[in-house]
Amino acid sequence: MFLLLAVASLALTPRARLTHRHSTTEEPHVHVSPISPISQISETEKGKPRMKLTIFGPTGRVGQHVLAQATAAGHHVTAVVRNPGKLGADAHTAPNVRIVTADLSEPDPGALESAVDGADAVLSGLGPRKKAEHGIVSSGTRAIADAIQAVGARRLIVVSGVGVSTVPTPSRPHPPKREPGVGPVMQYLTTPLAKRVLGHHFVDVALMEDFLHGCDADWTAMRVPLIVDKPQTGTYRTAYGHNLRAAFRIGQADAAQFMLQLIDQRQAVGKIVTIAY
Ligand SMILES: NC(=O)c1ccc[n+]([C@@H]2O[C@H](COP(=O)([O-])OP(=O)(O)OC[C@H]3O[C@@H](n4cnc5c(N)ncnc54)[C@H](OP(=O)(O)O)[C@@H]3O)[C@@H](O)[C@H]2O)c1
Repeated sequence: MFLLLAVASLALTPRARLTHRHSTTEEPHVHVSPISPISQISETEKGKPRMKLTIFGPTGRVGQHVLAQATAAGHHVTAVVRNPGKLGADAHTAPNVRIVTADLSEPDPGALESAVDGADAVLSGLGPRKKAEHGIVSSGTRAIADAIQAVGARRLIVVSGVGVSTVPTPSRPHPPKREPGVGPVMQYLTTPLAKRVLGHHFVDVALMEDFLHGCDADWTAMRVPLIVDKPQTGTYRTAYGHNLRAAFRIGQADAAQFMLQLIDQRQAVGKIVTIAY
């Protein structure tokens, strides 16, 4: 599904680097340290702060790294999966990981509420594995948000995609042709290509963002470009409330690292945040 986007991304890499050096609209490189400082809402055990985190999609490209990094940092993690067998052996043996089985295509409110109860933050890397699952991002996020509200949790961070706000939806029938911050290559090439390749899934992610804007939670939608398998670098660009020029690629481990950092960032609440190399 992402092959065409990958080709476009690779072809555009030199341009991306060039733009990166000269960009002034975004925050400078983020040099990320392991997930600290930790939120004020964290408890402290033996001098080391901990959070209670619930992760949806912990078997996905981004989600598996969120799970691994959160677990390694010593947080108490609830991993919500539809198939526990897809989790690595570490997750099954780690003392700070609880596994909850739930399929968001048939949400069970009781199971979801139990999964998010007491969570300092809920993180979702939910996405469809095949065309037949298109629609799961908006419907699944709704189910997660309902559970969060039912138990009185607040913080919700989800993965979204660059370009989705240019897609018409019922609440935004005339979306902007260009996301604030992007350059002509993204406007005329990569975003139209993504819309064409991803089809209804792109609309589904846009619907999720529409839903979040009316949602009574402390949400953040982290927009990513093409996700690539690359070792964690800790160096990437971010933008709050707008897109990034030449946002073509991000590694899954770096996306996960930033997602965990967002937990504590009050300036990211109720906002779209973009990450890219
Ligand atoms: N990949 C990219 O280049 C890219 C680019 C831009 C935006 N995004 C968006 O970013 C998000 C995360 O992407 P990703 O590539 O990390 O996702 P991914 O690898 O496709 O993983 C999706 C995750 O969602 C889970 N899931 C799917 N349906 C479920 C259901 N009914 N109930 C419970 N869990 C379910 C999957 O579980 P299973 O392991 O059981 O299938 C998996 O853990 C997606 O929404 C995607 O659209 C991705």
